[in-house]
Amino acid sequence: MRVTGTGHASMRIDTAAGSILCDPWVNPAYFASWFPFPDNSLLDWETLGRVDYLYVSHLHRDHFDAKHLREFVSKDATVLLPEFPTSEMEDELRALGFTKFLRAPNEQVVELDGGLKIMIQALTSPTDGPIGDSSLWVEYDGVRLLNQNDARPTDLTVFAELGHVHAHLLQFSGAIWYPMVYELPQAAKTAFGKQKRERQFDRTWRYIDDLKADHVFPIAGPPCFLDDALWQFNDIHGDEGNIFPDQSVFLSEYAKVGGTNGIVLLPGSVAEVTTSGATTTHPQPVEEFFANKTAHLEEMRERKRGVIEAEKASWRHPEIDVLAGMKRRIEPLLDESIYLAKGVGGPVRFDLVGYDGAEVESIVVDFPGKQVRPYADEKVRYRFRTERALIEHLLHIDEVDWVNSLFLSCRFSAARIGQYNEFVYAFFKCLSTERLQYAEGWYDEHERAVDAEDVTLGDWVVQRRCPHLKADLTRFGIVDGDQLTCQLHGWKFDLPSGRCLTSVGHKIRAARTQTP
Ligand code: FES
Repeated sequence: MRVTGTGHASMRIDTAAGSILCDPWVNPAYFASWFPFPDNSLLDWETLGRVDYLYVSHLHRDHFDAKHLREFVSKDATVLLPEFPTSEMEDELRALGFTKFLRAPNEQVVELDGGLKIMIQALTSPTDGPIGDSSLWVEYDGVRLLNQNDARPTDLTVFAELGHVHAHLLQFSGAIWYPMVYELPQAAKTAFGKQKRERQFDRTWRYIDDLKADHVFPIAGPPCFLDDALWQFNDIHGDEGNIFPDQSVFLSEYAKVGGTNGIVLLPGSVAEVTTSGATTTHPQPVEEFFANKTAHLEEMRERKRGVIEAEKASWRHPEIDVLAGMKRRIEPLLDESIYLAKGVGGPVRFDLVGYDGAEVESIVVDFPGKQVRPYADEKVRYRFRTERALIEHLLHIDEVDWVNSLFLSCRFSAARIGQYNEFVYAFFKCLSTERLQYAEGWYDEHERAVDAEDVTLGDWVVQRRCPHLKADLTRFGIVDGDQLTCQLHGWKFDLPSGRCLTSVGHKIRAARTQTP
């Protein structure tokens, strides 16, 4: 089995029974904030795009690049489609000209022509990607590969049960706006970033250990930030709180925990994976590339400046009345929302900075009051500050997912009182009736699901499943005194009170072992 690195989470898998192109991403995403790193725009995409199968793991724009899919991927390719709860991915691909779809039943092995086998695991909680993320398992001629990309299943048992895996490709770096955009003292930001960076690596080691594949390929990040306004997010400034470590950092951190089977794919690198080993060829020596990372980014920044400027010029729509537009889009959804609105539980304020950089319009999305209105000097739970032009653009294109556009762009700052509130982001990624109804139904089921099984962890008896996304706490739970940490996403719980210390809601059932 041949695996060609094509940048970020993207790869082309070639076997004698057919080829699969995964997550090809080339054009900047999220308001021109994210670019693939290392640069993959100079690959021979005409050839790479002539494939038998296309797999897009989910709709995040660093995995689903509509422009690139339209221009470079063969419309004769059969799309291997995860079993997602909504039809959005299929609809978007059809709109791009794809007509052949194979809907892969969740977690079931499908045999394609010539003996090529695949299995797709779809994750469908409202917090998994834009309502859905997935992993692809491939087997041909005894060689097995798992492209986990950035999916975060509770464990990898379903893949491990299919036999020993030879190539495991997974995310290790950050892909979020936390903590950089928060209005916090630099020292606090660095401390939070450091914790996050460590947690990302811990999670990666756990997945690697779950599968014990012969070879581990760090993929799906980090992106690079080429706009001058975001340049500081690249991990080239010696900031230990930077959440975007690159593949060379992965290799050195992995070595510290005894990992010796890591393989970095540059765009254009080719790994031939067999049951007995892997040989890899690179377009240039990997160490040399990373030693010159800053120069690579600087050169790329100059080359892409025009692309960024052209995108920026398309965001302003002065004819749009933002307050009226937000009212029209958001108020009907506030009316429909029970769980998410209750979960947010307070007003969320948007401070929109005008074109002159001075004038600010303050708008509140009032979740308890179910309305969008001008800010009225009240205390708010969350405050976002961004350019008015970005919101104008979101309204102009009728964007239903503000996480998959505004928030991932990192072109905003944020402040909040109290804990992280996942419902805020869940709501702003569900700005359509279809998505909102799905998320509401999911939380409804989830809240009502009685998870009766308890387990003993140290001096505590706790419910077996994590109140966040049901990770098995016998594997992911670490008790330290009166605090439990679930290592899947790092959420913490105060055991005497059951209170979740990381997010609003999500109480855990816990009692001391000696309590009758
Ligand atoms: S499942 Fe997310 S922290 Fe436990």
